[in-house]
Amino acid sequence: MIDLLILLAATGGAPVETPSIFSPVSTPAFAIREIAFLVLGITGVIFVVVAGLAVYTIVRFRRRPGDRPLEPPQVYGSDRIELAWTVVPFLIVIVLFLVTARYIWEIERRAQPPGAIEVTIVGNQWWWEIRYPKLGIVTANELHVPVSDAASPAPTFITLESTDVIHSFWVPQLAGKMDVIPNKTNRVWIEPRTPGTYVGQCAEYCGLQHGLMLLAVVVHPRDEFDRWVATQRAPAVDEPAARSGRELFASLACINCHTVRGTPANGVFGPDLTHLMSRWTIGAGAARNTPENLRAWVNDPSALKEGALMPAMKLSRSDLDTLTAYLVTLR
Ligand code: CUA
Repeated sequence: MIDLLILLAATGGAPVETPSIFSPVSTPAFAIREIAFLVLGITGVIFVVVAGLAVYTIVRFRRRPGDRPLEPPQVYGSDRIELAWTVVPFLIVIVLFLVTARYIWEIERRAQPPGAIEVTIVGNQWWWEIRYPKLGIVTANELHVPVSDAASPAPTFITLESTDVIHSFWVPQLAGKMDVIPNKTNRVWIEPRTPGTYVGQCAEYCGLQHGLMLLAVVVHPRDEFDRWVATQRAPAVDEPAARSGRELFASLACINCHTVRGTPANGVFGPDLTHLMSRWTIGAGAARNTPENLRAWVNDPSALKEGALMPAMKLSRSDLDTLTAYLVTLR
């Protein structure tokens, strides 16, 4: 939870709601709230009946002063009672099963309409790679999508893959959980109806930094989304003032793992850095993306995120400064 707070703080001013399934903003999440209320209703009635009978029995048949320490009569075998407590729970389970199956079916059978946004999200220890194959965008940990309304429906269809272990994609206000499994492709779709920022979290224990595998979904009005797409499609800026940092970056092992489009850096093991500074956090929610934190991260990622797979770069102070000065130009 503390990590979610970092992310919330990191979104700096953007209104972020508590990630509760009871405040949905997207089609599948509305359905999930509906069924959650139904299940809570049924189980609530069962709880009241069972707890009520227990309390009644405890009070009504408590031992009173003067009672002899007699064992109560032992009653064996009543077909009617046994049948009742077998058949009734069985029927309740059947109802819950059928209703749940119908909701799952309704959500999963939704076909991808022509106007849908296509995204591939790849789970990594411990960050999310986010690709828009049709738009030529690659980013990390922050999914940007357009709002979808009745006039111009624009749901986002997400393909989930993993490069290492099992993760789980979960943004409670947008859709249900979906496992992210190596060598298996899963799909999930969202259809957010309200612009805003919605936070999520890997929901399957996936190693040391499972807790720092956060995800933010930013839902934009359509024109704002189109502007975001245009910015992200552009190659990295090449500021003359940051040339020495750019050359230093290209001479280091950084380029084996990271891509900066428009430069020799084309590694795919770590997050794409072409528009690094457009993101709120470093290390999937480990810290706010500020120049100071970025410098600390490059110096020693494990200081901010124990176990992060990026090695400490062991640079001199002046090299660190030069490199950071370059990285902060990647807007
Ligand atoms: Cu990825 Cu837990």
